[in-house]
Amino acid sequence: MTELKDKDQQAIIQLKDLSIFYGDNQAVNKINLDFYKNKVTAIIGPSGCGKSTVLRSINRMNDFIDILHTKGEVVYENQNILDKNLDPTRLRRDIGMVFQRPNPFPKSIYNNIIWGPKINGFLKNPDELVEKSLRRAALWDEVKDRLHDSALGLSGGQQQRLCIARTVAMNPSVILMDEPCSALDPKATIRIENLIDELKDDYTILIVTHNMQQAARVSDYTAFLYEGELVEFGETDGLFTNPVEKQTEDYITGRFG
Ligand SMILES: Nc1ncnc2c1ncn2[C@@H]1O[C@H](COP(=O)(O)OP(=O)(O)O)[C@@H](O)[C@H]1O
Ligand SMILES: [Mg+2]
Repeated sequence: MTELKDKDQQAIIQLKDLSIFYGDNQAVNKINLDFYKNKVTAIIGPSGCGKSTVLRSINRMNDFIDILHTKGEVVYENQNILDKNLDPTRLRRDIGMVFQRPNPFPKSIYNNIIWGPKINGFLKNPDELVEKSLRRAALWDEVKDRLHDSALGLSGGQQQRLCIARTVAMNPSVILMDEPCSALDPKATIRIENLIDELKDDYTILIVTHNMQQAARVSDYTAFLYEGELVEFGETDGLFTNPVEKQTEDYITGRFG
């Protein structure tokens, strides 16, 4: 296994010997991996290799799965966020998540944006927050005249950008995306990919994708997982053009999976 680290980059999240089990079944095996600040890191690998399981450990979404248990550490801001004493609600404000299927609340576009800040008690200027967040997610121009219409009336691609706007409204430092384009058509996919490129100035982005072309297009770094293990990590250009590991080469050239 290669474990290349980029000494010039600042790690914002570090996985240390991270193992994850569903009951007796081990889905993730001793992964060590650094995610760099203000970079896009893609996590790739065949279906079932543990991508979502790893991603969900980073904002404690795995807490909702009863049979799951974890060993090792996920370090963020000098603490192991797996520590039971840590408040996952606060963590999820800092580390937001966008899911495979767009999941806006059955509320207006406007209320989708302000809901999180409101219940968390930091909503000051709602109009300003709504405009800023929608602009940041490249959606403002399309919806500015119908902010009080239901979010469910938007197209799939617009709904996914709304979910990104909703995440951005919480002022996170990290955004986790689990196959954010898998339910979208190619045109909507390109819009999200362009948006990811713009967002990395302000956020660190971790994107799970089984689409290798997408990983190559959007990410600075790529981690290749296979059967719960990290096979290779490195700069995306290098990993795709000159992989170190045979398994990586087989995967990116389509010889398996
Ligand atoms: N809720 C769950 N209960 C039991 N096993 C699960 C659950 N979710 C995922 N798994 C298993 O964990 C492994 C990794 O799954 P997952 O992280 O979803 O992979 P990926 O996102 O790469 O497709 C698979 O073997 C899968 O069957
Ligand atoms: Mg998955």
